[in-house]
Amino acid sequence: MNQNDLKKSLSKLPLGDIRFFESIGSTNDEALARAAAETPDLSLIVADEQTAGRGRLDRKWFTPRGTALACSLILRPTAVEKPFLTRTVGLAALAVAESLRKRGLAAQIKWPNDVLIAGRKVCGILTESVWSGEDVDCVVVGIGVNVQKDSVPPSDSLYFPATSLEEELGAAPERLEILRDILEVFIDLRPQLVTDELIARWASLLAFQGELIQVESGNVPAIVGHLTGLDTDGSLQLRNEHGESITVRFGDVRLRPLA
Ligand code: ATP
Ligand code: BTN
Repeated sequence: MNQNDLKKSLSKLPLGDIRFFESIGSTNDEALARAAAETPDLSLIVADEQTAGRGRLDRKWFTPRGTALACSLILRPTAVEKPFLTRTVGLAALAVAESLRKRGLAAQIKWPNDVLIAGRKVCGILTESVWSGEDVDCVVVGIGVNVQKDSVPPSDSLYFPATSLEEELGAAPERLEILRDILEVFIDLRPQLVTDELIARWASLLAFQGELIQVESGNVPAIVGHLTGLDTDGSLQLRNEHGESITVRFGDVRLRPLA
């Protein structure tokens, strides 16, 4: 992968600036720095290796050189989109899941920010906002996809099982093709950010739908219930053992099946 191949592969998409790095700390950090400047909507940062890739709450995301897709998309939301930005992580997860499903993979979304294949994590998404006073100026959507087997960290370093596209498909697909597919679906789906169609599509691909799950959050006791769907802002809905409906909002929450 290099800057020329990247630009050539994405030339038909209506993207902003495209930047490739052989090695970088975190593509999200680079995107956040650029977002502060006049970077246009749909600008993209891609790296062949991340040395300080991040998940939520600064947990580490591993991206060994040449093995994975690591990219960050800079969005400049319109006034119409701004009230719906909690849904951005769902839009990105749907773009990844739907593009992988086109390759015959049964990808599902582990709410809020992971994509699974056969119950194992193949992709993580980290959305971060840049504020201008009370107003969101930019949203950075970071996407990490495990493409080759070597991108998957050792299982004893993980809190949730992981897999790669190579493992699931039998051969590693081209990273540039995976990236182009994801961006194509993302751009196609973006108008739905402001419609409930997005919520319906997102809900239809949720992993553990109808199953008993546990949601862990900080030091408070975990919430246990059956996963019933999504609220209109993308919050998760459960039904507990007393038949009560519970809404889990975004934040430092970790969903686990209770099988
Ligand atoms: P989980 O439910 O998997 O714990 P999370 O989305 O709550 O995920 P985050 O902190 O957001 O957790 O994601 C980072 C976590 O993902 C790390 O703590 C690590 O366990 C795991 N991880 C790191 N790199 C990879 C990777 N390349 N593939 C799969 N999982 C990874
Ligand atoms: C998660 O599951 O916690 C989210 C992981 C997000 C990883 C991607 S890789 C590209 C971008 N740069 C980062 O530092 N993180 C995101």
